[in-house]
Amino acid sequence: MKTIGIIGAMREEITPLLDFFKKYEEIKIGGNSFYTTTYKNYNIVIAYSKIGKIHAALTCSTIALHFHADYIIFTGVAGGLSSDLKVGDIVLASSLCQYDVDISAFGHPLGFIPESKLYIDTDSNLNEIAKKAAIKQNIKLKYGIIASGDSFISSATKKQWIIDKFNACAVEMEGASIAVVSSLLNIPFCIIRAISDSADDNADISFDEFLVDSAKRSAAFIISILDEIQ
Ligand code: ADE
Repeated sequence: MKTIGIIGAMREEITPLLDFFKKYEEIKIGGNSFYTTTYKNYNIVIAYSKIGKIHAALTCSTIALHFHADYIIFTGVAGGLSSDLKVGDIVLASSLCQYDVDISAFGHPLGFIPESKLYIDTDSNLNEIAKKAAIKQNIKLKYGIIASGDSFISSATKKQWIIDKFNACAVEMEGASIAVVSSLLNIPFCIIRAISDSADDNADISFDEFLVDSAKRSAAFIISILDEIQ
């Protein structure tokens, strides 16, 4: 049986999945709980990493190397950068970048790490499955670049800087870690995010108000992807 790893950053982002599966086992590794279950003919491993790129990299590595995931899917919320995104909308990442990497002092482009890539592409097969699931559910998916970094963006100025420098449509704090780890370990991955705020001066208030609801939307979409993978 193949194994699908599903990662969120915050407890709120995986609770709707645990509620859906109802029965699961808990295995503790490296400060995270990994919840294992089965769905149709897949093993499922679910975890939340805690916020930020380092935590997400550890959780993703554990799901890859300990649980031998064949696919990795991220679910959670993001700040919308594109003006056509509003709270509740769902974004499917075409690629991920780290907006907070800066070794431009040595002539490298912002976000670029030698021997790595500025933008890491998500898996085209998983993305096609997500797009099919969206059509069936009548969900309008936004497909575009997601920028990750270890800050909650709540400033119109910083938001515009990320748009200008990275052409991203959404911002969050973990996706690029999943991209780095999964791509280096050759595991197909995709990143799904529902918008909780617009990364502007009201982002903190919007995030608090919509985290749970948007996390539920993202998780519900993940279930429809699992149904489509069959
Ligand atoms: N996740 C959700 N909203 C975000 C924001 N504004 N900045 C970073 N990560 C987020």
